[in-house]
Amino acid sequence: MLKVLVNGAFGRMGRAMGAGINSQEDMQVVAAVDVKGSGSDIGILYGCEPLGIVIEEDLSAAINRVKPDVVLEFTNAQAVMKSIRATLALKTPCVVGSTGLGESDLAEIRELAIKYNTPVFIAANFALGAVLMMRFSQEAAKYFPNIEIIERHHDNKLDAPSGTAGVTLEMMSGVREVFAQGAPNEFERIPGSRGGDYQGMRVHSIRLPGYLASQEVLFGGTGQVLTIRHDTINHNCFLPGVLLALRKVSTLKGLVCGLENIM
Ligand SMILES: NC(=O)c1ccc[n+]([C@@H]2O[C@H](COP(=O)([O-])OP(=O)(O)OC[C@H]3O[C@@H](n4cnc5c(N)ncnc54)[C@H](O)[C@@H]3O)[C@@H](O)[C@H]2O)c1
Repeated sequence: MLKVLVNGAFGRMGRAMGAGINSQEDMQVVAAVDVKGSGSDIGILYGCEPLGIVIEEDLSAAINRVKPDVVLEFTNAQAVMKSIRATLALKTPCVVGSTGLGESDLAEIRELAIKYNTPVFIAANFALGAVLMMRFSQEAAKYFPNIEIIERHHDNKLDAPSGTAGVTLEMMSGVREVFAQGAPNEFERIPGSRGGDYQGMRVHSIRLPGYLASQEVLFGGTGQVLTIRHDTINHNCFLPGVLLALRKVSTLKGLVCGLENIM
């Protein structure tokens, strides 16, 4: 039985993934950490009977007590680095879904994973459809270098653009020459109207109640526009990818990023 500690257990992803983990035969949530909801029984949070495991606040203390096989990290952009540092320092493999990590964070995680000889797996998006959207977008970018991304998320999301948009831009930049899109003399009447600029590609982050997570990648060509779009209908779309990562992480070496690298 794989013992999983969920960090961010009171949040949307923490609850949905925790419930999904407990419905598997080969794994189980053994501890739940969050800065909110202290004392709440996770069984109630998962919509079933109390399980006798309650939310606690101190991640290191919980790891030391239950000795999990893996920590599943779904907190937020501000908390994630501290959690990863604490988890690796206790030589516990870590699967990270929180977004907002930058290049310097990834460099530090890579070093820590080597220093503590403990694997870390990070995916900005655990949904298979989103992984395919990124792969197809990279292919399309070879032929259509005029690209804009529109990504839509709920209004509690802290980081912009989304981790998925960031990875998509990075993947497309590998096959696209850097150049500024739009009219050479274009100007903005309201600052930010043309969106974020990543090597000349544009990204627009919409944050509204009602949305979960969607992304469209638009490729403009002469007389045609190609759109590649992925919509997250509910949080269950992330579960198969998260379960795969939890089962595989202990076999990895150092830092591995991206679901496509363990599928
Ligand atoms: N990789 C993916 O496929 C994927 C999918 C959806 C969301 N996400 C990301 O996962 C993260 C969580 O998303 P969510 O929708 O569940 O957010 P949420 O706000 O519902 O939950 C985050 C939880 O983390 C807790 N938290 C904050 N600081 C903490 C700390 N220091 N220690 C412990 N817990 C702490 C909060 O109290 C909250 O309960 C975000 O970064 C989001 O962008 C990733």
